[in-house]
Amino acid sequence: MKKVQLTETVLRDAQQSLIATRMPYADYEGILSEMDKAGYYSIECWGGATFDSCLRYLNEDPWERLRNLRKNLPNTRLQMLLRGQNLLGYKHYHDDVVEKFIELSIKNGIDVIRIFDALNDFRNIKTALEATQKYAKERTIASGCISYTQSPVHTVDKYIEMCKELKTMGFQTICLKDMAGTMSPYEAEHLIKGIKDAIGDMTLILHTHCTTGMAYMTLTKAIESGIDVIDCAASAFSGGTSQPSTETMFYALQQYGIDCGLDEKVINTVNDFFKPLKQKYIDNGQLNPKSMGTDAQALVYKVPGGMLSNMIANLTDMHAMDKFDAALAEIPKVREDLGFPPLVTPLSQMVGNQAVTNVLIGERYKNISKEVKNYIKGEYGIAPGQISPELLVKILGEDGKPVDCREEDSKRTGQEFADAKEALGDLCRCEEDIMSYICYPDQTLKFLKNRKAQEENEAVYTIEAM
Ligand code: CO
Repeated sequence: MKKVQLTETVLRDAQQSLIATRMPYADYEGILSEMDKAGYYSIECWGGATFDSCLRYLNEDPWERLRNLRKNLPNTRLQMLLRGQNLLGYKHYHDDVVEKFIELSIKNGIDVIRIFDALNDFRNIKTALEATQKYAKERTIASGCISYTQSPVHTVDKYIEMCKELKTMGFQTICLKDMAGTMSPYEAEHLIKGIKDAIGDMTLILHTHCTTGMAYMTLTKAIESGIDVIDCAASAFSGGTSQPSTETMFYALQQYGIDCGLDEKVINTVNDFFKPLKQKYIDNGQLNPKSMGTDAQALVYKVPGGMLSNMIANLTDMHAMDKFDAALAEIPKVREDLGFPPLVTPLSQMVGNQAVTNVLIGERYKNISKEVKNYIKGEYGIAPGQISPELLVKILGEDGKPVDCREEDSKRTGQEFADAKEALGDLCRCEEDIMSYICYPDQTLKFLKNRKAQEENEAVYTIEAM
């Protein structure tokens, strides 16, 4: 019997896409033991923006969250999304930092590490792959992930070549990451058939979003074309900028005669648990009805849902929402000037902000952000296409050559660890604290100070109670 398995994303991408990753662990702890019985291929529950959000907004230790997830989901593969050399941040880290982060992720409970680079420059995911292999446990899977986008330089042949390369590098599975939900059913069919022919029986995964309304059609074609795993979300947190619904896909797969290994009763119980939570987030304003609809504009602008809502928030803050349409139209132009990077973190933010700046100032590239300058210099890797010659001259000078990011990234100085130890002093208790600080210094410092103050308070209460 043909098999297609499902990854459940409600704890990571679904809540990241719909409520900006603001779901505290306490809100879903009660359903974890049930989720553990569902029969998912994996549960995506960590990485992406969860790490940042824990420290910045939720006063949670992301590592402690991971350990709790591990404890309550002993039988299910726990999956994270990792931005290659960027880890969970927005800039490249040195190889020793990347390696330590992976070591700690596996130690604290992660099984599947889905690793991508925004530019599909695979030199930027090699260190993360090697670290995963080095610290692998029995269930560990290194999943190579391709950032999917459309442009004149992103052809089916090119994607097939990328998949072959990921296989040669030693990844165990391959994921196509359609973060903007712009992969059409037609494209899925051609891509997946071509890739399957090229990589044989290696597991192929499709990750898409409902943003543009195509995801269910695209998944249908993907299933018919031989996809092995699809990403879905419990229906309360499905649709809109999130993934297609788990229970709906289960129902459809059944009629195809395809076994997906899920327990129908359990997945319904899981969804029943999330329904009132959804209502709570609607009531407190964290779930904006805008994120729940269909936006076909993304087909034109290739903009992921999260990037649109960020842009709306920024322009609203600056009282410049009247410039929204102009900024939106500027995005594809900036993207072309930068050599058609896929719009995924951190490139989506960089391109989005540059487009807004160009429109607000009224002169293109009068102001160029530090990040975009570094990108043009080559610090993020090699652009998929040609960067505009004018921009290259503007940033590098007439005879300037781009830098090789690996030269800097491969340095193993231990400096970040030493700096973190010094900055944290007695707030630091473990390697995980140090890693949090390296990734998000200000937020971590604040979090650890809070933790200390809280414990001192509790100690006082305990003494008084005695
Ligand atoms: Co996604």
